[in-house]
Amino acid sequence: MKINNLVIAIDGTAASGKGTLGKKLAESYKIPYLDTGNLYRSVASLMLSANVDLNDQEIAIKIAKSLDLKTVNVFNNRNIEVTNASSLIAQFEGVRNVLLDFQREFAKDGAVVDGRDIGTVVLPSSDHKFYITASSEVRAIRRFEQYKENNEKIDLKTIKYDIEARDKRDKERIIAPLKIADDAIIIDTTNLSIKSVFDFAVMHIDNK
Ligand code: DC
Repeated sequence: MKINNLVIAIDGTAASGKGTLGKKLAESYKIPYLDTGNLYRSVASLMLSANVDLNDQEIAIKIAKSLDLKTVNVFNNRNIEVTNASSLIAQFEGVRNVLLDFQREFAKDGAVVDGRDIGTVVLPSSDHKFYITASSEVRAIRRFEQYKENNEKIDLKTIKYDIEARDKRDKERIIAPLKIADDAIIIDTTNLSIKSVFDFAVMHIDNK
């Protein structure tokens, strides 16, 4: 089994557990972890705080270029407004292009990278590709519990609606849509514990 320079791509639907799996794999194989959703969330968050039009691609590109990509990995704003805005600005080809080189550079000596287009566009020659999903009901409940822990009051119905709307937008956009790479292992986490998902992924990695 290859250990050095191991590149693991994790794509999947919103709130499916990609990040949880990604962090655990990165820790286990001692390689860096990148949550690429944070890149899009950062652009969205800056646009919202500057109160600019979310449909303005030129401004979005300018903001993406101005990001300090070294620190963006620690940004983790899961606020629902930022979340929905990130999926909107992720449709812009210019924004995606600005962020592409950073993602490839990050993974060049091995990494776990999670997002929507990692196995298909960003790192198509990854050593391992996983596609993670779960029923929208279960994903909404998991997100609901996280919001509750952070004292954010959002009802379950709204969360489920937002998750489904975001999946639809991420799957239907023209540039780098969310889709299952031909060589990806699909894991449906609806009825699986975090440990079972991790063990299943490790089994695939170690046996390849
Ligand atoms: O993974 P996440 O839920 O934090 O991502 C937020 C949004 O960012 C998601 O709805 C679409 C966009 N995104 C993307 O288009 N491509 C990626 N590789 C990662 C995220």
